[in-house]
Amino acid sequence: MTINTQKWLETDRNTIFHASTPLGQYARGEMGGRIITGAEGIRIKDSNGTELIDAFAGLYCVNIGYGRMEMAEALYEQAKKLAYYHTYVGHSNEALIELSQRIINKAPAGMSKVYYGLSGSDANETQIKLVWYYNNVLGQPQKKKIISRERGYHGSTIASGSLTGLPLFHAHFDLPLERIHHTAAPCYYRREDSAMSEQDFSRWCAGQLEAKILAEGPDTVAALIAEPVLGTGGIVPPPAGYWAEIRKVLDKYEVLLIADEVVCGFGRLGAEFGSIYYDMQPDLMTIAKGLTSAYQPLSGVIVGDRVWQTLERGTDDWGAIGHGYTYSGHPMGAAAALCNLDIIERENLVGNAETTGAHLQQRMQAAFAHHPLVGDCRGIGLLAALEFSADPAKRTPLDPALKVGPRIAAACLEQGLIARAMPHGDILGFAPPLVVTPDDIDDIVARTEKAVNKVTDELVRNGEWRPARD
Ligand SMILES: Cc1ncc(COP(=O)(O)O)c(C=O)c1O
Repeated sequence: MTINTQKWLETDRNTIFHASTPLGQYARGEMGGRIITGAEGIRIKDSNGTELIDAFAGLYCVNIGYGRMEMAEALYEQAKKLAYYHTYVGHSNEALIELSQRIINKAPAGMSKVYYGLSGSDANETQIKLVWYYNNVLGQPQKKKIISRERGYHGSTIASGSLTGLPLFHAHFDLPLERIHHTAAPCYYRREDSAMSEQDFSRWCAGQLEAKILAEGPDTVAALIAEPVLGTGGIVPPPAGYWAEIRKVLDKYEVLLIADEVVCGFGRLGAEFGSIYYDMQPDLMTIAKGLTSAYQPLSGVIVGDRVWQTLERGTDDWGAIGHGYTYSGHPMGAAAALCNLDIIERENLVGNAETTGAHLQQRMQAAFAHHPLVGDCRGIGLLAALEFSADPAKRTPLDPALKVGPRIAAACLEQGLIARAMPHGDILGFAPPLVVTPDDIDDIVARTEKAVNKVTDELVRNGEWRPARD
């Protein structure tokens, strides 16, 4: 470690409260830190001069890759012209107007307006408020419950953290809030009945949702919120027929659908939105991450026609909507999003996510489908995951105490590769920038293979695990 890095890390430990970090261990210097000093394309560099391939695009957000000078210039120009004005009571800015038109043009049919925030979490807070307001306008004040899914991820504020279906985000925070409930995750690999086909499992999931709605009372259930592909809960594409089965239940009980497109939106699946890819027909959509490729913080709630008409009726009767952030519709965010969309369109990054994504899936299958430590190798577009298992044929989970997921992620780092140990189960996730090439993919898979094999050998050598079929 360089002297400078040591000094910076010491000040860091003394002054910064880091997200998702064991606070005491970090502050006391019992675990490492990393200071990122630069980045280019799909690679980041730290203060020790180490270069790493970022196969998770930050937190699946730097879709156009790092170090885009065109973006720096766009932000400079916007800052010179108009760095800020608010969007309350009809105030606007040119960048935001152009952006909103482009988002509506890309969105599925029937989407009407965009409300802007700064993060996926605050956008999902807005979603809940809009759904509650909507039902108050409709004279259904009891229809307020929101159903989310186990293993769903929707943020970590009080309400969005309640939507999130991962115990880590609830425990010790007194969450979830009362009006938020969870239904089964569409995780086919984790089905209880091995004999079930994917279609049967999709029907089972829809049945679970229906049972939950009936148990709560259909006149009390306002909305389902769901990611098109489960992300942080383990990168799980839905089983065949899932969204069509879910749609039937939502229609039957007049439950709105909020599609959380924070990860899937703007191309990651090889389609503009997950909602389009799976024909989800959402009433509301949440966007963030890929909207600006994280060059500026910006999120949005896209409101469909049906909800919009009702919101208008509400404010006609009750006056201006009581919702807004100082930074809603920030021109710097809008400028970043416009430049990001220009790059995505010009370089056909949605098409690249489809073709290079297919290459990623094929290479992952070839390398890991029959690996003795890999229970499931799954993905879609430029999202992929390996789920490790003690006995793949029986889908037996590994002993969590072995921490196989984090150990493999650490072994990847030794190979110069960032892949993410997902927070739930022994799962290693991949979500490279959409600019990744087939050669990069070959490199990423080769490095991952070395890391997985290293930990596999280590487990056997230490007597911690042995292959079920040799
Ligand atoms: C699907 C989804 N929704 C919402 C969020 C929350 O976004 P943010 O971290 O910007 O608050 C995330 C973050 O990973 C996400 O993956």
